[in-house]
Amino acid sequence: MAWKTSDAESLRSSDEQKRQKKIKLAIYITIFVVFQIIVITTMSLTVMKVKTPRFRLGNINVQSFESVPSTPSFDTKFTTQIKIKNSANWGSYKFNAANVTFQYQGTTLAEINIAKGKAGWLSTIKRNAEVSLNSTAITNSNLGTELSSGVLTLNSVGRLNGKVAIMFIMKKKKAANMNCTIAFDVAAKTLKSLQCK
Ligand SMILES: *[C@@H]1O[C@H](CO)[C@@H](O)[C@H](O)[C@H]1NC(C)=O
Ligand SMILES: *[C@@H]1O[C@H](CO)[C@@H](O)[C@H](O)[C@H]1NC(C)=O
Ligand SMILES: *[C@@H]1O[C@H](CO)[C@@H](O)[C@H](O)[C@H]1NC(C)=O
Repeated sequence: MAWKTSDAESLRSSDEQKRQKKIKLAIYITIFVVFQIIVITTMSLTVMKVKTPRFRLGNINVQSFESVPSTPSFDTKFTTQIKIKNSANWGSYKFNAANVTFQYQGTTLAEINIAKGKAGWLSTIKRNAEVSLNSTAITNSNLGTELSSGVLTLNSVGRLNGKVAIMFIMKKKKAANMNCTIAFDVAAKTLKSLQCK
């Protein structure tokens, strides 16, 4: 009798052990799945997310600036830097050849060529550029008023087409636009401000 009871008990306890093992396994699987979801979500929100590289002008050093409000006309020479900043992507940014144009109210006055290249992981490419432009192409009559007001505003516009390689495997197309506003102080013949979007 006692033998039978203990046998039944051991059977019951082994059933109980199996049940607990199953529960533990279910808990482990749940933890693993939740962990994976967190990892994948975090990765897709950070590492995998492709951000637009910044494409803009660096410091402008005016070498000469001459203007005649009555004609109206102007002529300027300056040096600057073309900057391609790829600081937010987990991979390099490879871009095609492109152009940056310098415009006065939509009229192109000068154009500089940008050779194709690659901005490495968390890095910035800086290319020196020398720009020489004048008002010959401008037919707009606002120019005289603007020069008389003392501030001449130009824009530099460009678009880079390229690809971001994430973690060396995934490649995603990404275009970066430049639109900087350059203001010259006409009387002082210097740069007044440079703002890039
Ligand atoms: C840059 O401008 C030149 C001259 O206008 C043009 O021939 C060339 O196709 C342009 N390059 C790009 C990449 O837009
Ligand atoms: C004005 O710029 C044009 C190109 O846009 C150039 O051909 C011309 O020589 C320049 N004129 C002067 C006086 O620099
Ligand atoms: C650049 O920005 C100015 C305003 O700051 C805007 O008037 C102009 O249309 C923009 N140009 C391009 C090509 O996006």
